[in-house]
Amino acid sequence: MRIDVFTIFPELFHPFLTMGIVERARFAGALEVRLTQLRAFTEDRHRSVDDRPYGGGPGMLFKPEPVFRALHAVLGVTPSTEAAAPSEATSKTRLIVLCPSGEQLSQPLLEELAGEEHLALLCGRYEGYDQRILDAFPWQRVSIGDYVLSGGEIPAMALVEGVARLIPGVLGHDESAVRDSFSEWPGASGLDHPHYTRPPQYRGMAVPDILLSGDHGRIEEWRRKESERATRRREASREVCEGPEQGA
Ligand code: ADE
Repeated sequence: MRIDVFTIFPELFHPFLTMGIVERARFAGALEVRLTQLRAFTEDRHRSVDDRPYGGGPGMLFKPEPVFRALHAVLGVTPSTEAAAPSEATSKTRLIVLCPSGEQLSQPLLEELAGEEHLALLCGRYEGYDQRILDAFPWQRVSIGDYVLSGGEIPAMALVEGVARLIPGVLGHDESAVRDSFSEWPGASGLDHPHYTRPPQYRGMAVPDILLSGDHGRIEEWRRKESERATRRREASREVCEGPEQGA
């Protein structure tokens, strides 16, 4: 899989790309990440990628020109205003723009994206994007949560790491086995049960005897009950935060 990242802070990605699972995926040839500095596609002396909003108001907006130029130079994509049908490059590449108002990133979305051959991620900064950037390309808007960060770089890293670990062969055998047993990922209906490793006693805290018993049937049963308990606890704390479901 190839992922193109368009950003004004490519340096933020350097340590991220050279450690852990993402580095492993790149080293194995399963993932190629290309970083594009949007400032390289500006023409003014200050290399500015942003400008003040028409109509006034606080903050700065990403200007259209550097983004349009970079997308064309790197991906060969043309804006929908200039082509009757999407260019071949556009249809082969899944274009994703990171913004707080997008669809929330989830495990099912990561699984879908992991099946793509080519993703392109646009990381915004400032207050947002000139609307023409959003209108001219078939973006999928993706958010990592209902909060506002100063830019799309950290959200893009979350997406890249989430996808990288789903590419077949990237996780080692032990890690994939662990993942398979977590078929109930945290956003799904059930929560995970607690886990313990060695030592069996630590600072007066003991691993539950049942996990040391070797009785796999009882261990499974314990895990199932603990999962249910964790799920009920979460439901109860949600009710405290949000109130009971209407009409229930
Ligand atoms: N840019 C700023 N905040 C963001 C968020 N929560 N998700 C995605 N992109 C963002």
